[in-house]
Amino acid sequence: MNLNEVEILYSQAQIEVRVAELGRQIAADYAGKDLLVLGILKGAFIFMADLIRKIEGVNLQLDFMSVSSYGASSQSSGEVRILKDLDSSVEGKHVLVVEDIIDTGLTLGYIRELLLKRGALSVKLCCFLDKPSRRKGPVTPDYLGYAVEDHFVVGYGLDYAERYRYYPAVCILKPWVYEK
Ligand code: IMP
Ligand code: MG
Repeated sequence: MNLNEVEILYSQAQIEVRVAELGRQIAADYAGKDLLVLGILKGAFIFMADLIRKIEGVNLQLDFMSVSSYGASSQSSGEVRILKDLDSSVEGKHVLVVEDIIDTGLTLGYIRELLLKRGALSVKLCCFLDKPSRRKGPVTPDYLGYAVEDHFVVGYGLDYAERYRYYPAVCILKPWVYEK
């Protein structure tokens, strides 16, 4: 990690503890049910990989979707476009959508409505991070790692212009990096 460009917000050790707690909570809520875990690429892939191995005793299936929101900028465009759709049908399934961060809520609001329209039995949202101050619609996560202030954050799957995703900690990106 280049500590000139970022400041650590949640360490790898803190993240591990929080993800295990979320996994236990989800396992208890879905005990005895089949669950489709739907990761939103690319940001969610690291969180999802850790989370699914902490949801013990639930029969899980995995799928992915990719949508565009930000491009290379640090501001949401408000437009949601499906770049890669699920491989499987969600009809009659309990779906848990896993996302890295919820900001305006436009992305997850759109995905939730789409899944319900396609006949999902239930749709819940699991986000590692939430920026509640930025919300533009009625979307709240059912499972949340941490609520954060309005900083631009990277690492643990989150990027800025496709950089920093592999950083093991959640970090605040110093503004000079994206304002230059
Ligand atoms: P929303 O539709 O505004 O809720 O946007 C959510 C998406 O924006 C997330 O999936 C991220 O890809 C991206 N995003 C929002 N805030 C951040 C951030 O602080 N760092 C990195 N990506 C972010
Ligand atoms: Mg994303």
